[in-house]
Amino acid sequence: MSRRRFNPATAFFLRPSPLNCYDAAILATALKTRSLPDASRRKRRLGQVFTPRDIADWMVRAALADRPKRWLDPSLGGGVFIDALRDALADTDDDFAPTVYAFEIDDQLDIKPRKQWPQIDVRLARRDFLTAGLRTRFDACVANPPYVRHHELEYPPAIWQQFDEQIGTRISRNTNLYCLFILRIWSMLAPNGRAVIITPLEWLNADFGRAIKSYLLNENAIDSMWLFDDASTVFGDALTTAGITVLRRGRTADEPIRVATISNGQALTRLSSSAIKEFKRRDLDPDAKWTALLRQQDERRVAIESNTTSLATFATCSRGIATGANDYFTLTENQRRERELDKRDLSPCVTRASDLQAGVFDREKWQQLCEAGKRVWLLTPRQTCNKNFVAYLDAGRQRGIDRRHLPSHRPVWYRPENRPPAPILISVFFRERPRVVWNEMGALNLTAYHGIYTKLNGENEQQLYALYKWLASDAATDALLAQSRVYGGGLRKLEPRDVMAVQIPRRLVR
Ligand SMILES: C[S@@+](CC[C@H](N)C(=O)[O-])C[C@H]1O[C@@H](n2cnc3c(N)ncnc32)[C@H](O)[C@@H]1O
Repeated sequence: MSRRRFNPATAFFLRPSPLNCYDAAILATALKTRSLPDASRRKRRLGQVFTPRDIADWMVRAALADRPKRWLDPSLGGGVFIDALRDALADTDDDFAPTVYAFEIDDQLDIKPRKQWPQIDVRLARRDFLTAGLRTRFDACVANPPYVRHHELEYPPAIWQQFDEQIGTRISRNTNLYCLFILRIWSMLAPNGRAVIITPLEWLNADFGRAIKSYLLNENAIDSMWLFDDASTVFGDALTTAGITVLRRGRTADEPIRVATISNGQALTRLSSSAIKEFKRRDLDPDAKWTALLRQQDERRVAIESNTTSLATFATCSRGIATGANDYFTLTENQRRERELDKRDLSPCVTRASDLQAGVFDREKWQQLCEAGKRVWLLTPRQTCNKNFVAYLDAGRQRGIDRRHLPSHRPVWYRPENRPPAPILISVFFRERPRVVWNEMGALNLTAYHGIYTKLNGENEQQLYALYKWLASDAATDALLAQSRVYGGGLRKLEPRDVMAVQIPRRLVR
């Protein structure tokens, strides 16, 4: 086995690069995060979620297939992939000895390659992988890149432009750091090189992922994708979905992309070939949301597609009312009575997601919420209010409610957004299916629900009701699932524009 040690004079990463001048900015970011008092905030800024060992073992074995000599770990963390590599190599009886080139910017991580992995030639650069000048091309890469949202990134424009050039179009400045890693890893692979990368699945559905998917398809880069079940929490308590993408150079033009959904790390090793689906590149539209497509959940939706139109053609979906202080602006019936507030200064409302079940929400159900002590009233004061109301406003001022962000930005701090009740409500977060509610009560909705307003409002209630019935159906659930964003633990979220993008049968709007 080769025992060659790191020699700074020949280090692959010390070559001056046009990008190195930006390292100072990035190191400044690293230092800034170091001085953050809050450890979890620091962890977030560095995108630190660690790969479970069983998954790291599988990833390393997947990358070892062609006995790669030059190995890249661009975001080392505690070095779980090198641990896995060491053990995988120990299982072989030949003297195959890759060199690992690793990057890590967290200088609080105590990594001592020689001590930790005496059997492996590990060259650690305490530098930013995105900006380090690199001459070497790699035969294999195994990575869990940092998950850092765009607003936490402080890369200068030249770095973003470098990615614009790579993908041949302007990359969204909302792109998460892990996607930038994917792109750089791809550009660093040697001929026939292979990268096995675990990331959240968000990029497969998000707008910022479109150009990246399109680029990777054009490059014929995607070899296979292994999607963890929505319900699995691969990254422990981090609420995010996960999947492994394998990129490979040297694929033939018609090679299929292999895809499977797996429940957890152990299932990866036990995967039967019948669980693997094959996609042609042309089957994968970069503009589509890929998680549903890859899991083939949307067959029913596709089946009715020729006869549909998007909900947006005749409806709008709006976020619920944000009060800025629900415990002040909403009241229970008891609180209203205690303060003797006039009902004319309040409107029935739905405050929490759990207050509603799917189906019809009528006066009787609202009364039940009143009796259960739920917050069922929203402050919607008239121009001239009585003395009890004035006293309630004074109490609000004393609590500083008027100085909070949202209230202080309203024309009148105590008057939340004025809008009519939405006839149909849909829950923002859900697991298996969103709650679709027929709002017969005419209650206002806070942000736990979106409101659907259509041009049919009040004009043709039967048609409107038919639309509600359809939105509550299994076919609509499939369509809504296809539009939703997936978080870990099976949690899903619908944005208003996701709802408006849903395809609905044309017959509903004739
Ligand atoms: C998601 S963690 C993965 C760690 C480890 N590879 C694993 O799988 O458990 C990403 C690591 O990348 C490091 N990191 C963050 N930004 C980086 C950058 N720009 N260049 C190199 N490393 C970075 C973080 O400090 C963190 O340790």
